[in-house]
Amino acid sequence: MEAAYQEMRIFSGNAHPELAKAICDYLETGYGACEVFEFSNENVFVRVQENVRNRDVYIVQPFVSPVNTSIMELLIMIDALKRASAGRVTAVVPYYAYGRSDKKDQPRVPITARLLANMIETAGADRVLTVDLHAGQIQGFFNIPLDELTALFMISRYFREKNLDDLVVVATDVGASKRARNVAQSLNAPLAIIEKRRGANDDKTQVVNVIGEVEGKRALLVDEEINTGGTILNAAEALKTRDVTDVFVACTHPVFSGDAVEKFQAAGFGEVVVTDTVPLPPEKRWPQLTVLSIAPLIGEAISRIHTGRSIGELFQMDKEEDGSDPKVANAMVGAKRG
Ligand code: R5P
Repeated sequence: MEAAYQEMRIFSGNAHPELAKAICDYLETGYGACEVFEFSNENVFVRVQENVRNRDVYIVQPFVSPVNTSIMELLIMIDALKRASAGRVTAVVPYYAYGRSDKKDQPRVPITARLLANMIETAGADRVLTVDLHAGQIQGFFNIPLDELTALFMISRYFREKNLDDLVVVATDVGASKRARNVAQSLNAPLAIIEKRRGANDDKTQVVNVIGEVEGKRALLVDEEINTGGTILNAAEALKTRDVTDVFVACTHPVFSGDAVEKFQAAGFGEVVVTDTVPLPPEKRWPQLTVLSIAPLIGEAISRIHTGRSIGELFQMDKEEDGSDPKVANAMVGAKRG
């Protein structure tokens, strides 16, 4: 199909250039030339080093540490590309930070996820492409088209191939239950739900109940993000007191802040399966951690946005099963969402 815009170009700030390069590899396209750096006064400077007039431009920039710098880089890059007459600019934000600030759940607090959406639009983005938002409703904070992909079917397929018997899929809280239910359906396994309580405005959580039958089974904990690890670690503890035989973890965004990695290593999980929506340097990896690449899924979505093909179509297809295009099989399975 003909592209709706001239040539596609993929750019990246400093947040996760490895992912941007992997997406370029999938798309068999070069990496856009652009310098992005900070002056000594911490002001971010951007200069696009190639012609982007009328081009279909994608900026890959997850909001990772240093989070606020990653955000500013994206905003300033959008501004630079629009002023350089790019035809269309898509902000590709594989990990959308501040997602938990999506409601006014106590007096006098902001809704930062919404503020961020406004900032991305104001900077001049025409579209947004993202993966597993904290809550689907964040899509509605944008007045421009947004495509949200999910990695959880890609991760489900990984577990399906392991043929783990006696598996129960466990949502880490009531909010995560829809996501976990989709995984449970895909694995043909029962679902249980952890009732979690978050007290003060810190990162601490407490398990108050486990809903569902878990005794004597292996558990697969499902969540969209691991930050301090408290949610998963507390859930695993609660499951172990209920005679769960082994605990596995499936999660899209492995932020692993503070000493989360050390705690995960000590927890003795059967396996922790995540994606590379955020960078994972060697010191954040250990033998029981499996990292699946999100690049084919994002690359396939970009290709479809560029040529005006359906992303929804990905929800019904599994190219590997019909044998037509094994290269994108990962993307096809990964893009199904519920
Ligand atoms: C919160 O509701 C999210 O779904 C995750 O459970 C949370 O972000 C994980 O954070 P932490 O690892 O710090 O418990």
